[in-house]
Order: sequence, then C-alpha cells, then structure tokens
Amino acid sequence: MTGNKYKIKTPATSANIGAGFDCMGLAVDIYNETYAELTDETGVRVETDADLPKNETNLVAATVLHTLKILKADFCGLHIKQINNIPKTSGLGSSAACIVSGVMLGNVLAGGRMSLAAVIDLCNELDGHPDNVLPCITGGVTAGIVDRGHVRYARVVPTGLKVLTLTPDFPLSTALSRKVLPATYSRADAVYNLSHSTLTFGALATGEYSLLKAAADDRIHQPYRKGLIENYSEITAAVRHAGALCVWLSGAGPSIAAFIDGAFDERKLAEAIKPYKKWRYRVCGIDAQGAVIRPINR
Ligand code: HSE
Repeated sequence: MTGNKYKIKTPATSANIGAGFDCMGLAVDIYNETYAELTDETGVRVETDADLPKNETNLVAATVLHTLKILKADFCGLHIKQINNIPKTSGLGSSAACIVSGVMLGNVLAGGRMSLAAVIDLCNELDGHPDNVLPCITGGVTAGIVDRGHVRYARVVPTGLKVLTLTPDFPLSTALSRKVLPATYSRADAVYNLSHSTLTFGALATGEYSLLKAAADDRIHQPYRKGLIENYSEITAAVRHAGALCVWLSGAGPSIAAFIDGAFDERKLAEAIKPYKKWRYRVCGIDAQGAVIRPINR
C-alpha cells in the first residue's frame, strides 16, 4: 500500500497503580507522535531527533516490520518519523508506546485487518506489560489479565482527578528493577495486595476517592525497588505532605506518580522537592482516548 501515510499519537502510561502490580495502569496526556509510510525505496529509514536507532533495529520500525510480516503484507521500504515526548527508561511506558505505535501502524499499512482485541494481544505479547499497553491503547485506567494469551480488561475514566508525575534525570531499566523482586511471596502479602488493588479499582470506578489513601498501598514491588531510586522516600513524603490522594512507583520506576484533586497544594510540593535537583514534576490529565491513528492527507 505504497503512498498511504499515517500518524499515530500514543500516550504515556503509569503502570502498577497502588497495589495493582503488573495489572493496573493508566494513560496520561504526554504523547509520542509517529508517522509511517511504505515507500518504493528499499530499506528502512527512521527520522528522529531523539537518541534512537535510525534503521530497522528501531523499536517502532521493528514492530511495524513484525506486524507487516504477520499480516503477510507486500512492501519495498518503510519510512518512519518519530517525535518522542515520553522520557525513555523512566517508568512512563515509553517502550509500550513504541510497540503500540508499531503494531497499529503496521496494521493500517497492511490494510487494517486486525481487530482491536488482536492488536491488544499482539502488543501485550511483544511488550509483556498489559498494565502499560492496555491504557496506551484504550486510555483511562485499566485492570487487565492475560487469559491463555488473550488480554481481558475493564476500563474506567475517573473524573475530577489529575495525575502528578515526578521523574528524575537518571534512568532505571525494567530488567534491573524486576531482578530485585522476590520469586515468591507470603500468603499475607498476596492477600494484602489482592484486597488493596480490588478496592483501588472499585474506588476509581465509583468515585469514592477518599478510599485511595488506605487502598493504594503495596507489598509486592515497592518495598524491594525503592532502594534503587535515590531520594524515593523524601519525594513520596513530599507528595503526600502536599495533599496527594495516593502515591505509587510508576511502572518499574524511577518515576513516581500520584492521584491529586483540587485540594492538592502544588506550591507546597515545589518547595519541599527544591533540594532534590534531579527531580522534575508535571501535573497531567488522565488521557481518556488512548492511541489515536489517522491517515495523513497529502
Ligand atoms: N508492571 C511492570 C513492572 C511495568 O513493574 O515491572 C513495567 O513498565
């Protein structure tokens, strides 16, 4: 389908909301924009100002190629342009956004035969984190499971809440951040997280946000990962002190995220985190749309 050009906008995501390790995530209004077209020129060309591979090893390009192959699409060359605003290896779903972009662009370039469910399953197979790929595709807050290779999920879009993200200037690889987790957990810790994550999703669905403070606590990953993140305790304390409803480690870190409402005191936060020069915060909206793809008219 040479000549058709598409643009996709994919949101950043924060996985592991509260006790929802590996299952609950949300999308925020920070976006990557990616353009793709099939060309008559052989080979893969990626245009980007970011420090990313410019050939077929680029994650978006590799994912488009993989999807085109699955869909048995005939093509000669591929041109990609990436404008990335989601910081890399920061716990805000930058890899998931690239994979979602690649699968959805590959699908439309091949004629758009994949269903939404098939797109979600393929993204999850490639990324391995349903708590990032799901909200990236659907927007909102998602709770997902993988049932024999198929992702099943529920989605809510809480109103009246914003998401505070705090990101330091140092990266943390997901692989390293998973390595520090124990292989097994006690029944008490498993029940703690089950009960807390169920209540968190319920509170977000019903608007009973006063429950979040107690509900959004975790024993599965944060106690083990916080030592990897310089000033984690000081930053989370500052966010709570400024009136956040609840705070969590965003994905595998190092970013931290929090739900906030109108009672949150941004000036108090800015003052409290002043000594921690490596950290920047941002007040985000919850993205309710998820990935948006459209043809570009020439
Ligand atoms: N749930 C995953 C983790 C998210 O915490 O490792 C990775 O982005």
